[in-house]
Amino acid sequence: MSAQPGGLESIAGELLTVRDWLRWGVSRFNEAKLSYGHGTANAIDEAAFLILETLHLPIDALEPWLDCRLTDVERRAVHNILVKRIDTRKPASYLTGTAYIQGHRFEVDERVIVPRSFIGELIAGGNLDELVTDSDTRILDLCTGSGCLAILAALRFGQASVDAVELSDDAIEVARQNIACYEIGDRVTVLGGDLFKPVAGRRYDLIIANPPYVAAAEVESFPREYAAEPVMAHLGGADGLDLARRILADAAAYLKPGGTLVMEIGTGRDILDSEFHRLPFVWLDTEESAGEVLMIGQQDLQQVVTPRTPPKR
Ligand SMILES: C[S@@+](CC[C@H](N)C(=O)[O-])C[C@H]1O[C@@H](n2cnc3c(N)ncnc32)[C@H](O)[C@@H]1O
Repeated sequence: MSAQPGGLESIAGELLTVRDWLRWGVSRFNEAKLSYGHGTANAIDEAAFLILETLHLPIDALEPWLDCRLTDVERRAVHNILVKRIDTRKPASYLTGTAYIQGHRFEVDERVIVPRSFIGELIAGGNLDELVTDSDTRILDLCTGSGCLAILAALRFGQASVDAVELSDDAIEVARQNIACYEIGDRVTVLGGDLFKPVAGRRYDLIIANPPYVAAAEVESFPREYAAEPVMAHLGGADGLDLARRILADAAAYLKPGGTLVMEIGTGRDILDSEFHRLPFVWLDTEESAGEVLMIGQQDLQQVVTPRTPPKR
């Protein structure tokens, strides 16, 4: 192994319990200066996630297992995945094949970005409930990736039908796989194509969107963990907001009267507030974000003709 002098054989006799392996993993992760942000924010949570997933234990509680001893087979598996995280620098979810949002499990691999949208917290937390009151609500999830937000919306709003649009054929396969796992294929439809093109002529009560929104220069200097994800899931043009602008420009035509757009845009709030200065964006904060998700109604969006400063292409 490359993370520690000596292989598993030289340390296995000393590391017996989950607590021992957690401590060892955190030390090695800190030593290797890993980057986080794909569902966990630090070495402790990252090592805990990898250990619990590998041991097929629920990921929400580490405490009950800390003093449990591992079998030889389990030690080997835990050692292997911790070392793999260091050697490959891939996000933990690509190594386990799983990601969780709001307690819901999604299958992921390198064909899709690891799900972590703040919109998930808004859906599951009930913040969008008042926007979904009809018995026959139609929701559009633009840029669906793994299908996570479309699925969370369908689970939260049992009366809703959801269209989920995605440009990447790879991501579409993963989204369909996740929808099948939740057995909600009768209410969630994945459509391939560029933003609104596949849903021409349709109108929705709610559009949710987590488009690519990272500026080109930032994508260029990504740590390896972020560079392991599909670049088209991140790259939003020179300032990151190319797709957000297109969505703002077109959304009114795809919303029913009284409908609402909820869109995550990263750190571009000041730019959008200035360019679309007539639009009364409501910024929805979450536990982990401030000013990164906007909400705007159909009537206000009808004012969008061109932004004050035309986007650079
Ligand atoms: C930031 S990811 C969000 C994925 C998912 N909604 C989530 O929250 O995890 C953006 C997604 O948009 C897709 N995408 C990029 N350009 C697109 C376009 N023009 N039309 C539709 N989807 C696009 C990417 O392939 C990627 O899956």
